[in-house]
Order: sequence, then structure tokens, then C-alpha cells
Amino acid sequence: MEWGNILESMSRVNQILEHEEYIYYVEKIDKLEKERHFCKHGFEHGLNVARIAYAYLLEQGELIFTKECIYAAAFLHDIGRWVEYETGEDHAEASARLALPLLEACQFGGDEIQVIIKGILEHRRHHEDNLSLLGAALALADDWARDCRHCSVQVLCHKYHQDMNLVVY
Ligand SMILES: [Fe+2]
Ligand SMILES: [Fe+2]
Repeated sequence: MEWGNILESMSRVNQILEHEEYIYYVEKIDKLEKERHFCKHGFEHGLNVARIAYAYLLEQGELIFTKECIYAAAFLHDIGRWVEYETGEDHAEASARLALPLLEACQFGGDEIQVIIKGILEHRRHHEDNLSLLGAALALADDWARDCRHCSVQVLCHKYHQDMNLVVY
């Protein structure tokens, strides 16, 4: 594929990243997580989850939605983290709520939005818990995106188990 076509195929994802609300939320999360020792939830985490979820679905032969949908879901899945810090609301719910107008503003269609929002809502559940395909991919990628091997707070982390030292994607 030519460079111009590659760029074009991801234009709506890049619109999200340039959107003032996305930038505002990520800056807010970065600020609130400044002193956090556990994994952070800014742009880099979204990018890692996007690439891993995409690779996983590609490898499974289950790429039934576009790369843009996977990346959009990954970049937005934790966008409501700051709401959880401020109000205690579950961040999957908050992220889904904040993602909706962003997806509409960036030209995602109704069917795509439905799949993405469902994936975001499901991302904290166990991947074998009867999730949608995108929800399961996000749940798995969310764990695989962490660098547990070199983490200084392994023993304090509720998410950590020994398998997370292994590289999968
Ligand atoms: Fe999350
Ligand atoms: Fe996450």
C-alpha cells in the first residue's frame, strides 16, 4: 500500500488524536498519574493496546472490522480514567460516555460506534467472559501492553501474575 493510502486509511484515528477533547483528557490523565508508580494510561498505553489488539486479531484471522475501529477503541478505552480518579465512577463506563461524541465528531458511522463502545465497556472484564470480539481483544491487549518484567511495584500490583513476565506480542 502506498504511503498516501496508508495515511488516508487511518485519517479518522488521527482526527481523534488531534481533537481538543482527546488532548484535554489525556493531559488530565497525565497530570493525575504524575506520581503513579503503576502503569499509566495516556497516549502511549493507547498506542500499545492498539497495536497489540490489531496484531492479535490479525493473527486470529478475525479481522472483521477495520484497523481504524480497533485503534479508535484502543485510544479511547481509558479516556475516562480521570473521571474515575475524581468521582469513583468506573472508567470503562466513563470512557464509553466520553468516546461517543468524539467518534461522532470524527466521522465514525453508527455500526462502527456500536462495536467500539461495546469494546470499551467490556475492556476490564475477563477475555473469556462472553465478550464481543473487540472487547476480548482489548481485554487481552490491555494486559499484554504492560512491561511487568521490569516493573518495580510488581508485588503491589493487583493485576500482576507470573505469566505477565512473558512476551506474547
Ligand atoms: Fe482500563
Ligand atoms: Fe488500559
